[in-house]
Amino acid sequence: MSTVTDAQRMEKIVSLCKRRGLIFQSSEIYGGLNGLWDYGPLGVELKRNLKNYWWRVMVHERDDVVGLDGSILMNRAVWKASGHEDTFSDPMVDCRSCKARLRADQLIDKGKGRQCPNCGGKDLTEPRAFNLMFKTYVGATEDESSVTYLRPETAQAIFVQFKNVLEVSRKKLPFGIAQIGKAFRNEINPRNFTFRSREFEQMELEYFCRAEEGMKLLEYWKDERLKFYENIGIARDKLHVLTVPDEERAFYSKGTYDIEYDFPFGRQELEGVAYRTDYDLSQHQKASGKSLEYFDEETKQKFIPHVVEPSAGVDRTVLALICEAYSEDQAPDEKGKMETRLVLRFHPRIAPIKCAVFPLLKNKEPLVAKAKEIVDLLRPHVFVFYDESGAIGRRYRRQDEIGTPFGITVDFETLGEKDSTLRDTVTLRERDSMKQERVAIKDLPDILVSRIR
Ligand code: GAP
Repeated sequence: MSTVTDAQRMEKIVSLCKRRGLIFQSSEIYGGLNGLWDYGPLGVELKRNLKNYWWRVMVHERDDVVGLDGSILMNRAVWKASGHEDTFSDPMVDCRSCKARLRADQLIDKGKGRQCPNCGGKDLTEPRAFNLMFKTYVGATEDESSVTYLRPETAQAIFVQFKNVLEVSRKKLPFGIAQIGKAFRNEINPRNFTFRSREFEQMELEYFCRAEEGMKLLEYWKDERLKFYENIGIARDKLHVLTVPDEERAFYSKGTYDIEYDFPFGRQELEGVAYRTDYDLSQHQKASGKSLEYFDEETKQKFIPHVVEPSAGVDRTVLALICEAYSEDQAPDEKGKMETRLVLRFHPRIAPIKCAVFPLLKNKEPLVAKAKEIVDLLRPHVFVFYDESGAIGRRYRRQDEIGTPFGITVDFETLGEKDSTLRDTVTLRERDSMKQERVAIKDLPDILVSRIR
């Protein structure tokens, strides 16, 4: 695909997100705030379905993982010990010509020295470290003693609560602690829609193990995480595993993979899977003076566990899901004339709305009553949407555009008016193939649940 086509595709995706209530610019009526986004009625469902599926696979379907929900603000000492206060920074460069503030890795070099990507200027400052953490004050006095930061990753809450969780869960190594929550980074240049934001969510697992298991578990988690992305509908050939080279890895990590996705704006990281050794727990043990050791009852040895960390971004995955789902095909309109159909081909398990219910005509009371009965029947099982307005073809299209995988139509056959054997049956339409089948109303909950899970 050409660059122009990819850029146009991305433009269409961004505009669809706003038009259909997936993602809005934060504080839009005041001109917005760079790098911040709000999820609308459909976006919030999509995001929730993603997080719920991650939690199901990473926590509920396993015996060896428990959850945590840590606070966003923590004692400043956490960020000193973790190294974030001193080193969580990006090198920043100013362009003296157009006054742009840039990350050093965004400069372009066409063989004639570094240039500003905005104006092409070469009058640039030397790179200097810019700490990405948002600083704030806790309590009524704003001085050095009350400083802390909005967390730039969820992981540290897991490390500092390691001992408490170990005690209450009585888990044996290897075991993990999972968390989903907000993280904040004062990115120098937020860009590519929600891809690089200043406020975002992470889904992180810290999987504690013995030193000798670390490298094997790094492979294991990389493979598990690839399966996860396939299971939410991301094509395997658009996913790539980058082995982070030695010189780019954190000094304490013995191995890191980046799982990348082919976004319309290029191949970019969705998730990092890192073997972080015993670095984090050791740092916190040293700084706090509290033991974070594990006691092995069999060998009677005490040691600091190592950790493998799959760390995924919620917002980046939501964006990948939308980019992956976005498609245009040809379908007949009401009069049989072919027209372009916009479809979000979401996997049913992450689609915001699972099923739409339509009475064929809104002014035929028995059709409307039956359709509403079906909504009540389905509500405890799946998220359904009732729509009676407009021609049935147009109602289908509206649902296609937001990725609703199933549509149920209540027609005169449902009422048994033409053929009594069809009483209490409906048509069930599948979004991608547009095929319709006739099914009994009473079977709908089982059929839908089995196709969505
Ligand atoms: N605890 C490890 C950690 O935070 P990271 O690679 O800095 O590692 C993990 O972040 C994931 O968080 C990334 O792969 C990405 O999906 C997401 N992420 C990081 N910065 C982000 C940003 N500015 N906007 C959106 N997502 C971000």
